[in-house]
Amino acid sequence: IPVDPFDLVLFGATGDLARRKILPSLYRRFLAGQMPEEARVIGAARSELSDDDFRDLVREALKEFVSEKAFDADTVETFVERCSYIAVDAKDDACWQQLKSMIRDDVIKAFYFSVAPSIFGPLAERLRDHGIACENSRLIVEKPFGTDLETARKLNDKLATSFGESQIYRIDHFLGKETVQNLMAVRFANVLFEPLWNERFIDHVQITVAETVGVGGRGSYYDTSGAMRDMVQNHLMQLLCLIAMEPPNQFEADRLRDEKLKVIRALDPIPPEDIVRGQYKASKENPSYAEDAENPDSLTESFIALKVGISNWRWKHTPFYLRTGKRMARRMSEIVVQFKETPHSIFDRDGASRANSLTIRLQPDEGMDLSLTIKEPGPGGMRLVNMPLDMSFADALGPRGGEIPDAYERLIMDVIRGDQTLFMRGDEVEAAWSWTDPVIAGWEERGDKPHPYSQGTSGPEAALMLMHRDGRRWRDLE
Ligand code: BG6
Repeated sequence: IPVDPFDLVLFGATGDLARRKILPSLYRRFLAGQMPEEARVIGAARSELSDDDFRDLVREALKEFVSEKAFDADTVETFVERCSYIAVDAKDDACWQQLKSMIRDDVIKAFYFSVAPSIFGPLAERLRDHGIACENSRLIVEKPFGTDLETARKLNDKLATSFGESQIYRIDHFLGKETVQNLMAVRFANVLFEPLWNERFIDHVQITVAETVGVGGRGSYYDTSGAMRDMVQNHLMQLLCLIAMEPPNQFEADRLRDEKLKVIRALDPIPPEDIVRGQYKASKENPSYAEDAENPDSLTESFIALKVGISNWRWKHTPFYLRTGKRMARRMSEIVVQFKETPHSIFDRDGASRANSLTIRLQPDEGMDLSLTIKEPGPGGMRLVNMPLDMSFADALGPRGGEIPDAYERLIMDVIRGDQTLFMRGDEVEAAWSWTDPVIAGWEERGDKPHPYSQGTSGPEAALMLMHRDGRRWRDLE
């Protein structure tokens, strides 16, 4: 179903994210018929480009980042015709007037800030002062949303002078991932899980977001951030919230966000022994983290593992183990909900484990599996084996014959529809920083050094120990 016609002004249109994700996602929605013919994309950045230059940039980006299957030369041309460009300079009033004249009054107006957070405030002000944004306009902001509570608050306050909370869409692209949304469907549209979804039946939850890429190319940003700010404060926190939250009474933006907020507020402070930070060493093929970051003395973590407790009735004794890192053994993001063993076993213990687990695979191979213990088929007596009930979304549901839409496709269309469900609210972001800040301050005060780890592994040994000492283990990565 097509969304209503819109004008989307993309600030940072010549940047990496625009080329890799935003423009290709818009194109794919156009190809799918969801972005209507009347919609327009206005690229805005500091460089002096003509419309034609920008259209070339869009073509190149699509060539590079859209799969061959989805690259249809005619559709690309029709899409590119819908793109135009304006060079903007915060201090030059004339360009803002020109931008105003480029935007139509009778369509939805959306402004996408894919730029450094330091200019969110000035851009929002210009849009307001020049009467470009109106009450129904939407503002999309990219991460990082602040670097701590104080900066996040300032950003929220700045944006609030020009836009209302109901107009602001803070992106956490993990929320747009198909499996993440499915997690909510599984939890709240099936009667099966809810009675078991608590500390009585769930032993622990583990969330892994492992990447094989390093930080080369974005080392200067990453070195001031580290895995805690770059991944845990936002993406892993969101995943944890969706697993841990109470069922909202409606699938509606604020009700969902209220429940996520309650989880964040119930997170325990993390003692130092429950934190393992790591930094990748050089390998034969790749430089070390310190070389990538061009900071030989860097104490920033490219890997982190945490044991997180939630102080509420549902989760009091169920730990959540989180880990994420760069240059790890493979690219894999998944959540494992590990149930407890049966209270008493009537079978021999030599067989498989009696503990069920629900695995939610975010990438690659999006899907879920539920491990069950069954009898091994055959005449060998009552031997038990673990068997997954496996569902691969690409096979089962892939809407384009197996190609699952990118998170950005879903999220941008949600903005146009005015649906904030999959976006973070201001108080949620601030609460997440309130929990993260003391953890970071703690290791900074103690002068903790990250553990060096070899590339292509599961991270430092100490991270494995974090679970071993509790008699548990991470899912294998290697
Ligand atoms: C970004 C982080 O938000 O998410 C990156 O800044 C990370 O460091 C990326 O690589 C991971 O996203 P995805 O969708 O590739 O898993």
